[in-house]
Amino acid sequence: MGILTEQKTRASVNACVVGLQWGDEGKGKIVDVLCPRFDYVVRYGGGANAGHTVIIEGEKFALHLLPSGVLSPHCVSVIGNGVVVDPAVLLTEMKGLADRGRAVEPGRLRISRSAHVVMPWHKQQDALSEAAAGAAQKIGTTVRGIGPCYADKAARTWAIRVGDLLDAKGLSEKIARACDAKNRIFAALYASAAPKALDATAIAAEYADYGRQLASYIDDTTWLLNRALAADKRILFEGAQGSLLDVDLGTYPFVTSSNSTSCGIPAGAGVPARAVRHTVGIVKAYTTRVGTGPFPSEQDNEIGNTIRERGHEYGTTTGRPRRCGWFDAVAARYSIAVNGVDELAIMLLDVLSGLKSVGVCTAYELDGKELPFFPADAGMLNRVQPKFEMLPGWSEEINRCERYGDLPAAARAYLARLEELLGVPIGIVSVGPDRRQTLAK
Ligand code: IMP
Repeated sequence: MGILTEQKTRASVNACVVGLQWGDEGKGKIVDVLCPRFDYVVRYGGGANAGHTVIIEGEKFALHLLPSGVLSPHCVSVIGNGVVVDPAVLLTEMKGLADRGRAVEPGRLRISRSAHVVMPWHKQQDALSEAAAGAAQKIGTTVRGIGPCYADKAARTWAIRVGDLLDAKGLSEKIARACDAKNRIFAALYASAAPKALDATAIAAEYADYGRQLASYIDDTTWLLNRALAADKRILFEGAQGSLLDVDLGTYPFVTSSNSTSCGIPAGAGVPARAVRHTVGIVKAYTTRVGTGPFPSEQDNEIGNTIRERGHEYGTTTGRPRRCGWFDAVAARYSIAVNGVDELAIMLLDVLSGLKSVGVCTAYELDGKELPFFPADAGMLNRVQPKFEMLPGWSEEINRCERYGDLPAAARAYLARLEELLGVPIGIVSVGPDRRQTLAK
């Protein structure tokens, strides 16, 4: 029995939803499906690089910074201290929802005053450094300024936090200092790209205005969440990106700059690690990756193209075509271990309908020897030989299935094999983008 079928158990107390691959697993949909069981939905890392798609009765919502809980009227959504906030993106997203009759009032969205702000120089630096990098060094970032913002957070010298937006005078002094330094650094490092000089006065006015617009949403969210825990409220932590993009545990350096695994929750939300009682690991029935970096089970061929077209595998944030491949059980076992996954949600199973056979990567070999564990090291991963097992496919479209038992026998056999290889039960199977196309197993 999984989180979807249990009503009042530890699984519905405090849980987290994390992606186990390279992002885009469908976390937004599962968070949305689980929202009715929770009082709070919390983002704890990442920023506007994320793209969470939720479809409610045919209406599509693409969220980048807002937690998916904003679409459930009874939920309080929290942007935790570990998130990097681009206020322009956030306000545009909030306005977009208000225009569709789903205004997010301050009582339903709390933003940590300790979260860091993505500033114009972060986006400029992201673009300049990606453009200057050689083909082998390019990370293929989303160019949303994520890496430079986290770097400044760690460096502490020029960082701006959400709380700073509320003090116009202090903010303009910090911005003047940062612009002066960044203009000199960019001119020295990227002279050939002729970087546009940052205008501190205009930036200070723009960001002070964001502060005024967001003032009633800004809060001490650590205090808020710890009070919620003490009052036995139910909290769902929403991971962004996938575990293999985690800055510490992913395929470094081809990763994002935050802890996207469940390991990021205590630091990124200010709650004790033991607050998370149940971890739902989200995987696609196959694998995708955007940007550069190793991808052992990639199918850069007709199979990959078929998956991309059937699965509409183009980035929600950047529109880039995603690289596609078979399910990688070696990588998934690693992510299950580091996150402590209790149950799995298998997404986009419907995309595989029509394939004669379906592959699973069951092992890696390196220099003729089978590896006992996933090497989260880009150099080693680039050299591994994936071993594939092929299973019979199914021809039926499955997006109208209403129960697990309605799935074709071959699809159920495929899922049973995944369970066997991964050693964790599957609790949820998704056969289409809508809330209703979600089967409890
Ligand atoms: P950044 O997070 O923009 O710095 O990008 C670093 C890497 O993470 C790139 O390969 C991006 O394509 C990838 N990435 C960042 N966010 C997401 C996401 O939400 N889904 C999938 N890939 C992502």
